[in-house]
Amino acid sequence: MTDAAQGLHSAPDLSVSFSGIQLKNPVIAASGTFGYGAEFEDVVHLGKLGGFVVKGLSKEPMIGNPPPRLWETAAGMLNAIGLQNIGARAFVDEKLPHLRQIKNTVVFVNVFGYTREDYERTIQILNEGEGIAAYELNVSCPNTEQGGLQFGTDPRSLDEVVSTVRRVAQRPVIVKLSPNVTSIAQMAYVAQEAGADAISLINTFVAMAIDAETRRPRIANVTAGLSGPAIKPIALRMVYDAAHAVKIPVIGMGGISTATDVVEFMLVGAAAVEIGTASYWDPCATEKIVDELQEWCVEHGISRLAELTGGMQLE
Ligand SMILES: Cc1cc2nc3c(=O)[nH]c(=O)nc-3n(C[C@H](O)[C@H](O)[C@H](O)COP(=O)(O)O)c2cc1C
Repeated sequence: MTDAAQGLHSAPDLSVSFSGIQLKNPVIAASGTFGYGAEFEDVVHLGKLGGFVVKGLSKEPMIGNPPPRLWETAAGMLNAIGLQNIGARAFVDEKLPHLRQIKNTVVFVNVFGYTREDYERTIQILNEGEGIAAYELNVSCPNTEQGGLQFGTDPRSLDEVVSTVRRVAQRPVIVKLSPNVTSIAQMAYVAQEAGADAISLINTFVAMAIDAETRRPRIANVTAGLSGPAIKPIALRMVYDAAHAVKIPVIGMGGISTATDVVEFMLVGAAAVEIGTASYWDPCATEKIVDELQEWCVEHGISRLAELTGGMQLE
């Protein structure tokens, strides 16, 4: 039976899987834009999402940067939250027990640090908690052992941090790549060879905005991360390049705000996607995109969404 004919008789299968993790659809709420999940319970049916990534956790709690920390740009958003979080121990003790009760969705935990030891210790604490599907490593932080160069922009630092985490992690490790590099393919390959189970990309671009009247920066931290639709074409290119450089699964993100955007990321090689800034404009965006995806598949006679991954046609 053709896809189109099948589509007439049964609901499309939106499920995807990567690194041994089954998701009922490819839509994952991105780290830093969905709190610890529970904050969105009143507005989003969490059980409808493929999963969500909690905000970045560190060994110790962090208070983040002073305000202003957010600024809307043409088709995008600047943020310099400064990785504010309650710390890994408080997450395991105070947040995780509640998250375990949310049925039918997958919880990913984003982790960051300033030294290899930070990552190692944070992962050890999280290993003690139940109900986490995988770790997502944010490597866009300055490596203080190496004089402040970001882990994610230096191949040797990336190799070291990923191998360290791989040794201690008792769950799959997804390495979230920084886009602030010359060759994303090289960084994707380094992450794979160091033991990553999957990669996700992209994190935000370093950017800034200034008020010409006051001559002051719009963000107290001066520089900030750019996200949202403005970065989507670059994110697509980077996911395409990375997917061609590795054999491990790729999770794509950067400016996704519609079901068609999700399909585009899958066609260039993503097994699943994350959605961040869209939740700032519409807190229900993730859930709506799941509904739209269902409709997109019906309209296009697609019976199994996962088959689109890597399906871009060149002729
Ligand atoms: C306010 C805000 C906070 C973020 N915090 C984190 C974080 O803690 N860890 C991380 O890996 N990425 C963080 N990100 C990056 C997003 O997860 C995502 O990679 C990026 O925004 C691109 O996707 P988008 O265009 O759909 O937002 C944050 C993004 C925003 C807008």
